[in-house]
Amino acid sequence: MIGNLNHVALVVRDLDIAITSWKKLLGATVSSVQALPEHGVNVAFIDLPNTRIELLEPLGDGSPVSKFLEKHAGGGMHHICLEVTDIMAARDELRAKGVRILGDGDPKTGAHGNPVLFMHPVDFHGTLIELEQVSADQP
Ligand code: CO
Repeated sequence: MIGNLNHVALVVRDLDIAITSWKKLLGATVSSVQALPEHGVNVAFIDLPNTRIELLEPLGDGSPVSKFLEKHAGGGMHHICLEVTDIMAARDELRAKGVRILGDGDPKTGAHGNPVLFMHPVDFHGTLIELEQVSADQP
């Protein structure tokens, strides 16, 4: 069912400060900041040769990332994102296997304009996993 690792997401308190650290300390290539109000985050991507790192900062009231920062004051790893070719088929198969899908179960549009879903972390031993539908011709 699953394909490549699309990204690893890290929550940070301040996106601009975090971007500066990644650039100055590691020489990272970082995208411009994108606001995703539907997900309650500002996001920037660090491009690596084989995958990406997503830096997340809370946006607006009730951001899921704010709740994360209440528990992990310094920030930290939030989720991993795995690629699938058919997100609705993946969702239905996972549900049939007893996996809980977060929210209403309908895919939302993620940072790359692709449909995404999140699975309940309890069903994956404490790790939040995002599924992103990526078509074969996308980089
Ligand atoms: Co993500």
